[in-house]
Amino acid sequence: MSFKGYSVDTVTDMNTKDGLWSRLGREAGAGGIYHSISPIDGVKLADISLASDEQYERTVEGACTTFLDWREVPAPDRGQLIREIAEKLRSRKRELGLLITSEVGKISSEGEGEIQEAIDIADFAMGLSRQLYGRTMHSERREHRMFEQWHPLGVVGVITAFNFPAAVWAWNAFVAAVCGNCIVWKPSERGLSTAIAMTELCDEVARRWGCGGLFSLVSDNDGRFGARLASDPRIALVSATGSVAMGRSVAETVGRRLGRTLLELGGNNAAIVLADADISLAVRSILFSAVGTAGQRCTTMRRLFVERSIIDELQRRLVDEYQKVQVGDPRNSSILMGPIINENAVRQFEKAVAIAQDQGATLIIGGNRLSNMPSSLYVQPTILRVDRPIPIMREETFAPILYLCPVDDFEEAVKFQNDVPQGLSSALFTSSMRYTEQFLSVTGSDCGIANVNLGTSGAEIGGAFGGEKETGGGRESGSDSWKQYMRRQTNTINFGTKGHLAQGIVFDGE
Ligand code: UN1
Repeated sequence: MSFKGYSVDTVTDMNTKDGLWSRLGREAGAGGIYHSISPIDGVKLADISLASDEQYERTVEGACTTFLDWREVPAPDRGQLIREIAEKLRSRKRELGLLITSEVGKISSEGEGEIQEAIDIADFAMGLSRQLYGRTMHSERREHRMFEQWHPLGVVGVITAFNFPAAVWAWNAFVAAVCGNCIVWKPSERGLSTAIAMTELCDEVARRWGCGGLFSLVSDNDGRFGARLASDPRIALVSATGSVAMGRSVAETVGRRLGRTLLELGGNNAAIVLADADISLAVRSILFSAVGTAGQRCTTMRRLFVERSIIDELQRRLVDEYQKVQVGDPRNSSILMGPIINENAVRQFEKAVAIAQDQGATLIIGGNRLSNMPSSLYVQPTILRVDRPIPIMREETFAPILYLCPVDDFEEAVKFQNDVPQGLSSALFTSSMRYTEQFLSVTGSDCGIANVNLGTSGAEIGGAFGGEKETGGGRESGSDSWKQYMRRQTNTINFGTKGHLAQGIVFDGE
């Protein structure tokens, strides 16, 4: 397996340039080397071996072989393995959080929060391992019993983005594992160090259980193994998180072989603030959702529709908060926003700000790349004001840009909110019970997530996570998302001596 030979212990030394991280470079992979550079300060974190085609083959074969044993392990025992992983994650939470911070630039609290999210889903999966319930139903035939049961699917391929390099995989991997599947991970190269650390940690537990191959990883820096997982008939389910373009290509390829997909793609989330809202609460929530993770969550709030009578006050208060946001080294506890992921992301940010202004938006605050920072990847949290929705607001720019737009009333706000190709998350701020219910009703938000008096981001693991339209329709994490990682079987047993047929059909020729 391509991660073999790496140790999670390297994490503890990650701040020393020539600590154990340098070990990562020793085993040159046949697929080449990826230089993992921290967006914080441009320091090299690791030279990482990329997998060769032959290593891909061995990894998938290994997962297929392990599956034959793992599927027969009783589900509650599978849950015990995940419980051990949860304990390990608890004991390494700080250092894994720091690794995430160093690799993708999110602030320490959010880095650790992401590991907490992985721990939470592990706990959830452990409980779930005793609750993979099927239904029983009354048969229309005498002396017949009918029921449904759930069996493991096989090998699950998980493709993840850079912005949640641990948690999103954990949602998939831990739930899929208690369901009896093996998991092959294709992370973004920009989250590869974290992915290796997570895989190594989980693999160590799995090996102790005699289940090496339960969790494995194929590393690339050009998406070739994502495409390969999609076309590989041994991969029963491909769960992919990332851009709409990537998801479309995965869906087309997997669809051609009639495999299964679980897609969590673009989000272009909006919040609505009505005149009767608690403005202080709204401002705090908007700040976290729009500026948190430097605007690089799929749940980030990107559009804000505010009733005309309060928009100027809300804008003033938001600007006050934005002015206080310290941008800088995310390892420093006073910092609220770190760098964005790479030069291309900065260019997309600058381009969006320019296009928005061309389309009539007014720059309220921010809009620029910051100079004199430890790297060139720091930008200002930005608010652009528009009179009506402009075309660029239909696009998701993965950067801290918030479009602020007045609305006449609730109805117009919902119309604007829903009028985008994506449908992940949404929020309404109000104290009105009527508007709350309308927002959550069939004529309200068309998103997979709809919140009232909290932001669009920061979902708990207990609910199903995902969205509609171009977001892809998949549901991961809690609730009954586990069903996607299993195959359903309907069983009918005749415990009598007569061969009754359904629908009252008589077929005896007499
Ligand atoms: C993502 O950005 O892909 O709800 C996932 C949230 C997090 C997960 C985000 N719990 O913001």
